[in-house]
Amino acid sequence: MAGTGLLALRTLPGPSWVRGSGPSVLNRLRDAAVAIHGFRETEKSRWSEASRAILQRVQAAAFGPGQTLLSSVHVLDLEARGYIKPHVDSIKFCGATIAGLSLLSPSVMRLVHTQEPGEWLELLLEPGSLYILRGSARYDFSHEILRDEESFFGERRIPRGRRISVICRSLPEGMGPGESGQPPAAC
Ligand code: OGA
Ligand code: MN
Repeated sequence: MAGTGLLALRTLPGPSWVRGSGPSVLNRLRDAAVAIHGFRETEKSRWSEASRAILQRVQAAAFGPGQTLLSSVHVLDLEARGYIKPHVDSIKFCGATIAGLSLLSPSVMRLVHTQEPGEWLELLLEPGSLYILRGSARYDFSHEILRDEESFFGERRIPRGRRISVICRSLPEGMGPGESGQPPAAC
């Protein structure tokens, strides 16, 4: 499922938020651009007007006009000691694009190539930042959120507190809204 691998993370330009195993993985993922412990979660479909405006900005930034989104948004609340183990979101529940807003605590998201574990990329997710996983980043790399003890961005320690993420996903292709079932945690 190797796509063209475009990772659309344009909100934090410059090299300060991304590190990789080498130039090839950085190049491959640069222009197109995330099992859980210590969490609670919900699926939310009713939002205040102010929140809807933010979600619309996320959707405009992350999804193409031809993409249908899951009808509800996934909200994941990780406690300070909580973390997300490496996984690739199930293609049964989730389509080609995953977009996540990180709130409260900074964290480090690590992507590791599923076939070539030496190829990796780390994203520093500041509160208020948006990451978008699509193409190769969605299908060929696992993603994880590092636990507090391992939460470093290079040499820089990124202490973890409680973190809330608001995750929008596209529907698996060929599925109409409402047919997606309930995606499990870390689907
Ligand atoms: C997930 C996941 C990442 C995040 O729920 O599948 O990878 O940003 N979440 O919380
Ligand atoms: Mn995931």
